[in-house]
Amino acid sequence: MRTRMTELLGIEHPVMCGGMMWLALPGLCSAISNAGGLGNLTAGNYDTAQELRAAIGETRRLTDKPFCVNITLLPSVRITRELHQGYFDVCCEEGVAALEISGAPIDRYLGEEAVEKAKKAGVKLIHKLGSVRHALHAESAGYDAVIAAGIEEGGHPLDDDVTTTVLTPRISESIGMPVITAGGIADGRGLAAALVLGGSGVMMASRFIATDECEANDLIKQELVKRQEFDTTLICRSIKLQMRCLKNEIAGKVLQVEAGNGTLEDILPFMIGSRSKEAWSNGDVEMAPLAVGQSIGLIKDVVSCDELLKRVASQAESALAGAGKFDL
Ligand SMILES: Cc1cc2nc3c(=O)[nH]c(=O)nc-3n(C[C@H](O)[C@H](O)[C@H](O)COP(=O)(O)O)c2cc1C
Repeated sequence: MRTRMTELLGIEHPVMCGGMMWLALPGLCSAISNAGGLGNLTAGNYDTAQELRAAIGETRRLTDKPFCVNITLLPSVRITRELHQGYFDVCCEEGVAALEISGAPIDRYLGEEAVEKAKKAGVKLIHKLGSVRHALHAESAGYDAVIAAGIEEGGHPLDDDVTTTVLTPRISESIGMPVITAGGIADGRGLAAALVLGGSGVMMASRFIATDECEANDLIKQELVKRQEFDTTLICRSIKLQMRCLKNEIAGKVLQVEAGNGTLEDILPFMIGSRSKEAWSNGDVEMAPLAVGQSIGLIKDVVSCDELLKRVASQAESALAGAGKFDL
């Protein structure tokens, strides 16, 4: 399947993995790239730019295919502006295939010269966003592509709350760059729909948790297979940093604090990153907010990345071939 996304990134299938704090690590990243998609290494997993450089090196030992690095430009106590700059510089020096930027546009955050620097280094800049206005900015700033992330997505969807099915056509009719659809995609039907809506491919994240190569504890993978599309909730709306995560004990507590007009200080203790890191690895599904999207309703099994990408591609091809032949 050739699309503008596969051409831009030099990949076989128009599928990329989204940034995943604590989970998008070299093993999973390389497995996705080896399977013909675009793997993702999430910079925030590393406390220093040199650690990120080492992780890029490790990924390159595991695959000779292109992969991207996610840099999330959101307020963080641990990740300072200097560290963000360090991540960016390392990615340019290493010449990674692409950068997935989220949270804020890199030209505004690190300065307009960042776009030029990425271009010179041959690093494709892809901005993940949730509105037409942000997509127009990305185009004028010189990005290479955008990811249209709807409210269904796991993590931090924009609080415009627009769904993937509306956002993809709205953004693709508004800009000339390739649009990659994210949020609610977990199989080939989603990929086919994204292409029909004007997208050039998809980003999936939650679906990649339930793969053999993801380092999340098996108990969590099995939990995702059991859970349904209505099993996520949006927390932290009151502090303007909404997060879609699994309905669990801790998400319930955060919602309670918010309902009682709790402040940022009241909420923060539940949101400490190290809690989520521990939960993903020890398999305790109640102890921390676990970012996942509504797409968990579509996860039926745990498979290898290779099997998953083959399935997504063939299911999309048959869905597209079958379109128009439905008995309406
Ligand atoms: C476990 C997990 C961690 C995530 N961490 C990040 C992150 O650090 N930065 C980011 O930009 N997006 C993050 N996201 C969002 C994803 O990259 C992607 O936009 C979203 O999950 C797509 O929706 P889906 O989960 O339905 O496929 C995360 C998602 C998940 C599931």
